[in-house]
Amino acid sequence: MLPVVRKLIARLTPLLSGIGVLAMFFATLPELPRLDQDWFDGVLFALLAIFTVDWVLYLHEHIVTHRKWTDLRSFEHITHVLAVLPITAALALGFRQTEVWLFSALWLLKLPVAISGFTLLFRVVSIEAKPLASVAIMFAVILMLSAVAMHLVEGGVQPAGYGTLYRSVYWAVTTLTTTGYGDVVPVTAVGRSIAGFVMICGLTVFGLLTGILATGFAAESRRREFARTWDLVAKVPFFRNLQPTAIIGIAQMLRRWDVPERTIVVRKGRQGDCMYFIASGQVEVLLDDGSPVHLNQGSFFGEMALLGSGVRNATVATTVPSTLLILDATDFHLLAANHPDLATTVRAEAERRRHGTLTAGAEPPAVETGRS
Ligand code: CMP
Repeated sequence: MLPVVRKLIARLTPLLSGIGVLAMFFATLPELPRLDQDWFDGVLFALLAIFTVDWVLYLHEHIVTHRKWTDLRSFEHITHVLAVLPITAALALGFRQTEVWLFSALWLLKLPVAISGFTLLFRVVSIEAKPLASVAIMFAVILMLSAVAMHLVEGGVQPAGYGTLYRSVYWAVTTLTTTGYGDVVPVTAVGRSIAGFVMICGLTVFGLLTGILATGFAAESRRREFARTWDLVAKVPFFRNLQPTAIIGIAQMLRRWDVPERTIVVRKGRQGDCMYFIASGQVEVLLDDGSPVHLNQGSFFGEMALLGSGVRNATVATTVPSTLLILDATDFHLLAANHPDLATTVRAEAERRRHGTLTAGAEPPAVETGRS
């Protein structure tokens, strides 16, 4: 029962945090009539109670699973503490409620734990930590050098803007981040030249940061997708007898597609540039004579367009929610060149289908040789 409650709260956390921040927004509005403010206070108290229960259940689980006390230093536990303690402490110390509720902004810290997408972000940042640190160091170096240079060049002319290193650093930060408030601007020719150089450096630094994070995200998503596809490929009998190295190559070519039931995957008469393997589920091939042929897990379809005129010769739809693996035409030809045994099996199957010798529900055979 308790784990179910925890799971439910965990699922609802993004929604509850969002509601909490909205309620905080209105509960702290002085223009709102007292009665309405009471409503928002009620919502905030209810959310505080839920988050307190969540924290207590977390501690309970921690104790019954005999986890180490040092684990309580985890980010997840810190978010539990910050969600409850500051508000209760402020209430106990007699702060005004409009001030107390400002601490409910801390509920937003629960989001990185509750939303799985954040784990991808944390992972990318930890993998790319070194290049990101290099860019950060580069940023700091340019910042300091430009601040010192501007202090020397402009300090005498504009003491209000560059008279101290602290003021020059402020200028360097706004310029390097391309924010450019324009409240402090160089007036000497040398100062302006330095400013131009710093602005270009700022763009370069942010370009580098974006590039590092974007490639990190792409690589990590590919790795995750590969791990998911690998599991599915290993389940398809067609690839069963291949060496692991060959399966790795094939898993990199395939794209996973989760298709709901009764969804048309290929339509007769349309151009086809890929074929499909059924990792799970079932599809129905609608033949001209109206009789459907069912293909189950492990089977493939869409190969005839790749081997023939490029036009689909039947409509294929899922009968149940299915997971398909998509192989693009170019990858199919690459695969056929590297694994002639696979290509022979696909061709033989296409030939059988063309002559209508396939019976409903029949599966194509797995490839018998183990070439890599
Ligand atoms: P394609 O023509 O690319 O698109 C429709 C697909 O339906 C076709 O490839 C085959 O994979 C599949 N198909 C066509 N005829 C049959 C059949 N008689 N039995 C099973 N599958 C078929």
